[in-house]
Amino acid sequence: MYERFRNERSRPFFDLLAMVRRQKEMRVVDLGCGTGELTRELHRRLHAKATLGVDGSPAMLARAGANRLPGLQFVRADIAGFAEPGWDLVFSNAALHWVADHGALFARLASLLAPGGQLAVQVPANHAHPTHVVAAELATEPTFAAMLGSFVRRSPVLEGEAYAELLHRLSFAQQRVRQEVYLHPLAGPEEAVEWARGSILTPYRERLTPELFEAFVVRYRARLLRRLGEARPYLLTYRRLLLWASR
Ligand SMILES: C[S@@+](CC[C@H](N)C(=O)[O-])C[C@H]1O[C@@H](n2cnc3c(N)ncnc32)[C@H](O)[C@@H]1O
Repeated sequence: MYERFRNERSRPFFDLLAMVRRQKEMRVVDLGCGTGELTRELHRRLHAKATLGVDGSPAMLARAGANRLPGLQFVRADIAGFAEPGWDLVFSNAALHWVADHGALFARLASLLAPGGQLAVQVPANHAHPTHVVAAELATEPTFAAMLGSFVRRSPVLEGEAYAELLHRLSFAQQRVRQEVYLHPLAGPEEAVEWARGSILTPYRERLTPELFEAFVVRYRARLLRRLGEARPYLLTYRRLLLWASR
């Protein structure tokens, strides 16, 4: 299902890329690069001198090998500890919502930029949508709370205004903070469950046995479908923030 929604996921990437100012011989880092397919596009379209794709998942990086180009490299590292300086562009598409404390994170990322460097980040900000709300509700119910050790996935993503203030505090000379609502027409609301399975529900899958995770999904499906109604086709709306700032 992750693959099935790949085109929908790449649209925000190209919107973010369009916000970047191309400069000569850029050194670029792509944090949370996944399989590297879009990192390759980033490298190619910016005519970058060097691009480093960073991801924490060996499974994702195993597939990045197919996307090699001169000047393009991949490395396994945790974004939460990434501290290599000297980048003309720190780029991240749909990954920083997995990293906590955006105040501290953005301060660190800003400190890694070369003079005149740019920061470009796209993060999902759909936490008020029933697909997210229902997952958090279920996780706090006593049966699942006990199995999950009271874990509830809470997005660290801030409101747009908070990012604008943060980027200002970090002394960026210019910035743009955009909110976009992406549309995902689905055959019916039950497809939203499949969408969630490959994204929102993964932190629960990682913490439950396969049997308990299936039980979680059964309850999730029943409650979510009551909440979403019966419209066919079903339009899944997905709010994202696109942030760009320059030194
Ligand atoms: C939704 S994918 C996005 C991949 C790619 N940027 C794209 O747009 O297709 C999120 C990626 O972030 C990676 N990721 C999440 N948290 C991470 C962390 N703390 N350190 C490194 N990579 C991380 C995941 O392994 C995954 O490959």
